[in-house]
Amino acid sequence: YDFSGEEFETLELTGDTVNPGEPKSGPHDFELLKLLGKGGYGKVFLVKKTCNKNAGQIFAMKVLKKATIVRNAKDTAHTKAERNILECVRHPFIVDLMYAFQTGGKLYLILEYLCGGELFMQLEREGIFMEDTACFYLAEITLAIEHLHSQGIIYRDLKPENILLDSSGHVKLTDFGLCKESIHEGTMTHTFCGTIEYMAPEILMRSGHGKAVDWWSLGALMYDMLTGAPPFTAENRKKTIDKILKAKLNLPPYLTNEARALLKKLLKKNVSERLGSGSEDASPIKAHGFFRHMNWHDVLQKRLDPPFKPTLQDETDVSQFDSKFTKQTPVDSPDDSMLSESANQVFLGFTYIAPSVMEEMTKPWLSIREPRSPRKVGGLPMR
Ligand code: ADE
Repeated sequence: YDFSGEEFETLELTGDTVNPGEPKSGPHDFELLKLLGKGGYGKVFLVKKTCNKNAGQIFAMKVLKKATIVRNAKDTAHTKAERNILECVRHPFIVDLMYAFQTGGKLYLILEYLCGGELFMQLEREGIFMEDTACFYLAEITLAIEHLHSQGIIYRDLKPENILLDSSGHVKLTDFGLCKESIHEGTMTHTFCGTIEYMAPEILMRSGHGKAVDWWSLGALMYDMLTGAPPFTAENRKKTIDKILKAKLNLPPYLTNEARALLKKLLKKNVSERLGSGSEDASPIKAHGFFRHMNWHDVLQKRLDPPFKPTLQDETDVSQFDSKFTKQTPVDSPDDSMLSESANQVFLGFTYIAPSVMEEMTKPWLSIREPRSPRKVGGLPMR
């Protein structure tokens, strides 16, 4: 009752009461078809949406265990980052996030399914790429990274396993778990929170890691594509790190002058000398002689013909994925273990529906139904 004597009903604020009639999505809406991958983070499945909007459509479903994530504060930030980054970032060469939801124990990301698999598989199969093949992939990747940087995001984890191919053979970056959000010009990823008065000069002077880390990785990836292995390798982690920090770059003689020149400029150990480290970001890389035949507008419009078009039976074809995973029976292990309310707080706001999907749900009249480590390469040096 209020003072006027009128009667009020209490209403709990939930997704259902705020958006009545809007069907809630959850893991139960997705039928598991295949296991695509598995790692410390969780699993990726091929799934089919079984009801409501997009029923019958195929997606990739990434499942993460909250308990594993909460154990590591860094992972919590990473997982939030992945969801946030995927929500705001829309780009032709970056995976699309369709839904994000959670249960007591798990987080779910529903992504477009990239049936071409990892670029890494293609590279394994071929050993090395011809320079124009490498040029195609590097150009699309460069635009994706340029876009992330323009949004204040550093990718940090550019490697062949994170570059997937769509059904036509174009590039899509996935796995944003390690990206750092909100790093704009002049700031560093190791943002100093709170008091800095007591910090040693070398901490404050540390160049941190900025956008240029991604251009180094682009160089390492380019080197891998053209020679069959990353530029600095050794028998263990420590020796590899040592080499990355100190070893001279070794360029095989069969590379063209343009490729050699770009590799040298991307793999500069001194950040300020590295191509792309300036405020112009990708511009000098895009203008480099190695990309002289690229019309960057056409690249963005996907007007270039991909070097490899995956041969696929249908949209649920998993032939481009490791059979070690795809031959397993897909199971999303039941996980009813609830986190304590306080631990679960960190996942507030994870749930998400892509604007495109949301629009269809709220304005159904708008929807137009369509008809229903080193590789083996014989005899080449530098392996
Ligand atoms: N692995 C990780 N993300 C994926 C996706 N969107 N499609 C296929 N495999 C993936």
